[in-house]
Amino acid sequence: MPHRFDDAERWAKVFDDPARDRWQKPGEVIAALALEPGMTVVDLGAGTGYMLPHLAAAAAQVIALDVEPNLVTHMQRRVIDAKLGNVDVRLAALDDPGLPEGSVDRILIVDTWHHIEDRVAYARKLARALRPGGFVLVVDFTKQSTMGPPPAMRLTAEAVAAELGKAGLVAHIAGDDDDELPEQYLVSGSLPAR
Ligand SMILES: C[S@@+](CC[C@H](N)C(=O)[O-])C[C@H]1O[C@@H](n2cnc3c(N)ncnc32)[C@H](O)[C@@H]1O
Repeated sequence: MPHRFDDAERWAKVFDDPARDRWQKPGEVIAALALEPGMTVVDLGAGTGYMLPHLAAAAAQVIALDVEPNLVTHMQRRVIDAKLGNVDVRLAALDDPGLPEGSVDRILIVDTWHHIEDRVAYARKLARALRPGGFVLVVDFTKQSTMGPPPAMRLTAEAVAAELGKAGLVAHIAGDDDDELPEQYLVSGSLPAR
């Protein structure tokens, strides 16, 4: 049974806590997406929409996906209130993002990858949805992090990279020369060059 996030009011207090910016560093996450003009970016497991104002300012088109109907309603209100006209909020199935083949440039997955079951099969669906040059970016808590889910639920960056690799993506773990977050790792999975 997956962990539920159906209480939008409760989770908005957690996910949209202003203190989060200090460790989540949304500007660095956006920089790691290397967005270019005209690109479409997906926020998979978008929650209450913490990343949406940042993504909407940086990308041409944003698709916010979540499996919780209450969070989808919450985000739909949020994008209207904040006038984020380039954000489309959609309900996704647990095992399928529902993205057409070759339709998006970036898929951002913040604090969500560890919730997905049968991740290699899921990553294959993400790979199929990418346009040439596209990549998935998984941002999640390290085992050593002082916050996040119980350590037993956390995945290492190496485990995430292996899952993306099994799905046919070329995985890269952010290293010392890349942007780094204090509590989390960034793992990208790119379509192989043709
Ligand atoms: C810890 S929250 C992170 C929310 C948001 N990314 C953030 O960083 O504020 C995890 C989110 O993933 C969603 N989720 C869980 N399983 C999912 C799945 N299979 N597909 C899409 N979203 C999922 C949950 O409903 C929840 O909103």
